[in-house]
Amino acid sequence: MATFMPKGMQAVGTEMHHAASRFALVAKEGDLVKALEGLSLVTQQCVACHTTYRVN
Ligand code: HEC
Repeated sequence: MATFMPKGMQAVGTEMHHAASRFALVAKEGDLVKALEGLSLVTQQCVACHTTYRVN
């Protein structure tokens, strides 16, 4: 699907995947504060893409 996206959108998408991977690793370690920080980075990417490209 990435082939059909504008470059900027691809970048946000890639960053979201990286943030999600980091979140998954930290969450496994069991540090709640760090895990929530990581989760907030993931949701920032959601918002970035959705507001920039106006999908909901
Ligand atoms: C790279 C850009 C991008 C990122 C990052 C992104 N989204 Fe989306 N999102 C979209 C697009 C584009 C659609 C519309 C897809 C469609 O209509 O087929 C969508 C659709 C959705 C929908 C469905 C809305 C509906 O009315 O059907 C939800 C829910 C959603 N996204 C949540 C999220 C969440 C939660 C995250 C973060 C974990 C996220 N999105 C990250 C681009 C993105």
